[in-house]
Amino acid sequence: METKYKRIIIKLSGEALSGKVGFGIDPPTVQRICESVKEVFEQDVEIAIVVGGGNFWRGRFGEGMDKSTADYMGMLSTVINALALQDVLEQMGVPVRVQTAIEMKEVAEPYIRRKAVRHLEKKRVVIFAAGTGNPFFTTDTTAALRAAEVDAEMILLAKSVDAVYDSDPEVNPDAKKYDRLTYIDVINQGLKVMDSTAITLCMDNKIPILVFGLDQPENILKAVRGETIGTIIEEAE
Ligand code: GTP
Repeated sequence: METKYKRIIIKLSGEALSGKVGFGIDPPTVQRICESVKEVFEQDVEIAIVVGGGNFWRGRFGEGMDKSTADYMGMLSTVINALALQDVLEQMGVPVRVQTAIEMKEVAEPYIRRKAVRHLEKKRVVIFAAGTGNPFFTTDTTAALRAAEVDAEMILLAKSVDAVYDSDPEVNPDAKKYDRLTYIDVINQGLKVMDSTAITLCMDNKIPILVFGLDQPENILKAVRGETIGTIIEEAE
């Protein structure tokens, strides 16, 4: 089976791992996601995963807290998710290396770009944890940054909705779904797909973003085959 892409970044929100429970890690949900990742891996696609941590903590939960401290707590929560994904993927026979942007050598490798690229070339799934290692940056920005650093061809942005709409489809039944947007459209229309730092980083480095719903994890495979799903965000033609 031909795939359109050879090296991709999959951005998984922390919430995606909590399933219907809505907090923490829901093992059957993680199992389902990992099965889809495995299917893509078996198509000879090099996969790096950037995982969020919102199922445990978000920087913005820390109202009244020091913003940097709240963000560091969020970065640490992504490490829990990375280890959970590593464990399940490895049990499925998929080789995985976790790299953390904040050094914690006892737990995982530190982030070293050249080593990450080598792991990908050696057909290991690389999970990037602890965000960029800096407060004030989101894990979406991490996905954009790592995609640029490891030369990934695209970012698969897994969401709880199946595409980008002009308004919230759960609130507005007439919400219009977009099949394709440019980076500038997203910025100008204030569409809440990614934060503006992440989207401009993708724009500057010409990294397409495919937004799709993870409620059907097989969407990941469809996306790498180039099937039309979700919303593609790319350069103007
Ligand atoms: P190659 O050098 O390409 O063979 O890669 P490799 O990852 O198999 O070799 P390496 O000897 O670097 O790593 C062996 C195992 O140790 C892998 O599971 C790594 O993820 C892990 N590992 C490597 N460096 C560190 C580290 O600094 N901390 C932790 N906790 N694990 C590490």
